[in-house]
This record gives sequence, C-alpha cells and structure tokens, in this order.
Amino acid sequence: MQIKSKSGDLTDLSSPCLVLGVFAGRHLSDAAKTVDQAADGLLGDMLRRNDMDGEAEQTLLLQQVPGIDADRVLLVGLGKRKAFDRRAYRKVVDAALGELQRQRLTKVLWALHQPTPKGSDDYRSLYDTVLAARAAGYRFDRLKSDKKPAPRALRSLDAWCPDKAARDVAKTAIRDAKATAEGMDLARDLGNLPGNVCTPAYLADQAVELGKQSPKLKVEVLEEKDMEKLGMGALLAVSRGSRQPAKLIVMEYRGGGDKEKPVVLVGKGLTFDAGGISLKPGQAMDEMKYDMCGGASVLGTMKACLELDLPINLVGVVPSSENLPDGDANKPGDILTSMAGLTIEVLNTDAEGRLILCDALTYSKRFKPDVVIDIATLTGACVIALGKHPSGLFSNDEALVNDLNAAGEHSGDRVWRMPLWDDYQGQLDSNFADMANIGGREGGAITAACFLSRFTEKMRWAHLDIAGTAWLSGDKKGSTGRPVPLLTRFLLQRCAP
Ligand code: BES
Ligand code: MN
Ligand code: ZN
Repeated sequence: MQIKSKSGDLTDLSSPCLVLGVFAGRHLSDAAKTVDQAADGLLGDMLRRNDMDGEAEQTLLLQQVPGIDADRVLLVGLGKRKAFDRRAYRKVVDAALGELQRQRLTKVLWALHQPTPKGSDDYRSLYDTVLAARAAGYRFDRLKSDKKPAPRALRSLDAWCPDKAARDVAKTAIRDAKATAEGMDLARDLGNLPGNVCTPAYLADQAVELGKQSPKLKVEVLEEKDMEKLGMGALLAVSRGSRQPAKLIVMEYRGGGDKEKPVVLVGKGLTFDAGGISLKPGQAMDEMKYDMCGGASVLGTMKACLELDLPINLVGVVPSSENLPDGDANKPGDILTSMAGLTIEVLNTDAEGRLILCDALTYSKRFKPDVVIDIATLTGACVIALGKHPSGLFSNDEALVNDLNAAGEHSGDRVWRMPLWDDYQGQLDSNFADMANIGGREGGAITAACFLSRFTEKMRWAHLDIAGTAWLSGDKKGSTGRPVPLLTRFLLQRCAP
C-alpha cells in the first residue's frame, strides 16, 4: 500500500475518490465546505436528500460532483463536534475504510483528518490513519491453499495537507507509522503462525533474517549447550519436555554512540504453552501459540527501529522454548537453580514464562543497559484485572513509568500501572527453595511481576504483561501486533532532542 502526503488546492487534485468529514447536524468540515462551495452547494443538498445527518460512521458516496477534479466524494459522519476525540476519529476511520472496501475503491485522497480531533494533533491523526489503513489491509492467508489476493484492498492513500507546515508534519507521521506498521506486521505474522511452524528455531531464523537487513544489527543465537554453560537452569527446565531445542536469541543494534547504554528488550518466546505437567484445560488451548507474542514484539520493534534507522543502541533478547508434558518434563516440586544462583521451587509448571524470563533478564545485565523492559504474555490474571485494552505495566523506576505512559498515550497503545509492593512478595515464599514460582490466586499478575523483580533489583526495569493485548479471540481471532507501537514510540521519544 502506498501512503503519502499531498498538498494543493483540494478542488484541483484529481483522485478516484476524495474522503471528507461531516459533523452531526450536517455541519461540514472546512475541507468539505471548500468542496461544497466549488460544487454550488451540492454536498449540503445531497446530505438532506439522503437523510444523512453526519452521525458518527454514516457514509454517503457521491458520483460526478461538479467543480472538483476528484471522480467521487465519500462523505463520512464524524458525529457530534463536541464528542469528536481521537477515539471517535479512529472509529470513523474504520467505518470509512470499510465503506471504501465495499465500494471497491482502491485509491483515495484523504481529507478526513481535518479538522483535528480533540486531544489529538495532525501528527497523531495521520499516524492513526496509517495504522488503521495498514491494519485493514493486513491478511494472514499464507497457510490457506486458496490465496485470493484481497481484491478490494486499498492500494493508495494520499493524505491531503493544506500547507507546507502541515505537509512536513504529515511526512514524519507517515514515516513513523509506516515503520511501526512494518514491525506490527512482522509481530502479527509470527504470532499467527501455528506452533508447528513457528518453533524456537523458526523464531531464531527470523531474527537472523532481520540481521541481514542492516550492518548495524548483529544477531547471535545461543543453543542449549551454551545456556548450560551459563547456568540457565530455569530456562532449560521449561524446555525439557519439548523435542524442539530451546534458543536464546540475542539481537544487538548499534545506531548510537559507543558509550551510550542500550535499551534492552526481553520478550517471552514460548512458541506453544500447553502448561507442561500442570496441563492446561483443552478449551481455547490453540491460543497458546500466541505465547511468543512478547518475543515477536521485540523482533517487530527491532524491525521498526531498522526501518527508521534510529540513532540509538538497542538490544533484543528472546528466550524461546515450548512448554509441553513429557516423561522428561520438569515436575511440580522440582527445584531449579537459575543463572542468578537463586533457587526456585516449581509448584506449577504452567508458570513457565517467569522461568525463561528470569534467566534472560540475568543474561541482559552483560549489556550494561540503561533500561530493561520485558514483554510477556505472562498471566491470565492480568486479563482478568485489566481486560484487553491496556497492557499491564510494572516497574521499579518512576521515570521509566512516565516515559512508557507517555509513549502509550502518544501511540494509542496504552499501558496501566499495577503495584509492585513488597506486601505481595511473601506470597512467593517456599519451604524448600529461595522462592516458589507461583504466589496463589490473589493478585496473580502482580506476584508474577514480583517474581521477575527478584532478578532485576539493580536495574531500571519495567515489565509489560501483554496477555490481554497481544491477540484477539472469537471471530476476530488473531495477533494484534501490540505492543510494537508503544515500544517504537518509546524509542522515538528517546531520540527526540
Ligand atoms: N501463557 C500463560 C498466560 C496466559 C494465560 C496468557 C491465558 C493469556 C491467556 C502463562 O504461561 C500461564 O500459564 N500462566 C498461568 C500462571 C499460573 C499457573 C500461576 C496462568 O495465568 O494461569
Ligand atoms: Mn503457562
Ligand atoms: Zn505461558
């Protein structure tokens, strides 16, 4: 899909379809007013004749509008002006994209982002538009035998800019959003691939492929024997029940100065989580192929970083394994020794994410990071606490919390902070080891984070529980590509002077 900015007189620009907004009460947006004047009031007449009031998500397609060079005009209801905020705009965009698809219109001149929604700005409106258009065009059909190329997919979107200043903003917004979308597409593809295709070795191969994209990115894959030497007893224990060898994927991107401390992203890469000996119930177990979405978001963010050629140092670490029952699998009661030397009593083999992450977090120390952020589909409890809208945020550093909150608000890929108080730590007490790997039903997302906090004490660290945000269930089942927008924005913020 080609997306670019275009300036000029709205009535003189030729296009198969010009997309314009109308507020409730038939109040035309300024762009629509310009067109209405050129067309001798036709837009207003047509709205009345077709009973279109401008209610949110209504659409009306007009052919042969006089006085303009566009072949058609799609009018889209913006709803009440007072209620027109960023959320409303995003719904309107989806409605417009849906109508374009139904009408088989593949090339548009887009002026729906004028005026700017409340609490948003030109940058964000276009960023949202690009991400929505790319999401609408996303297909995952590589495992279907009948691969119809999406026939009515949008092929070109020109975002109209009234002047030079607006065009400069538009260019940056489009560039950032495109790179983000590239990263999301990669994360979504990896998430949607089934466990029999997307194995730890497959994930590692994808990282190696990424490494070929730029000399700034060095990729190394650690094998089980390397992990043994490092003493990664927790990670290796999870992998014992699997025929697929575990991999520790390490991606080092050098875009910043030699002395600049990197951001380290650590992503859970469980390519299938059956629960192990503490087997999960069968219901929706297929969705546990998504248990590598944290790792996929690290690859996706790395991809976006490469596309943008960001002037930063970034390290991605993805511990990857399966969690399956087997005669040789780790068992409840087993006691493991982690790379950090802390011992862990496994009371439930289904709490495996924290086991692979704790060793990966310990490993991350060698990069002398400025900050470490782990991203994991860690707990069902987080989905119960927050639903599917924000990712859970846990952190030991206030400045990092502020930066992630800001990145979440800016990108629209939001987080919500959860407590990491010592009050919860006692739930991890074990009679036999330094800690247990579960802390009971109460505050399950928090005790999981508390477990990780024991391995990150001397680091500026944040943990994102993306169990609710990484994929959708039901008839929209599929990976979302989150939190690539959040993480990419976080990196962009660090580049801004
Ligand atoms: N991958 C799951 C978390 C998960 C569950 C994500 C459901 C999304 C939906 C994780 O490995 C897990 O099994 N967690 C357990 C922890 C429990 C045993 C303490 C859970 O959440 O039930
Ligand atoms: Mn599990
Ligand atoms: Zn899991």
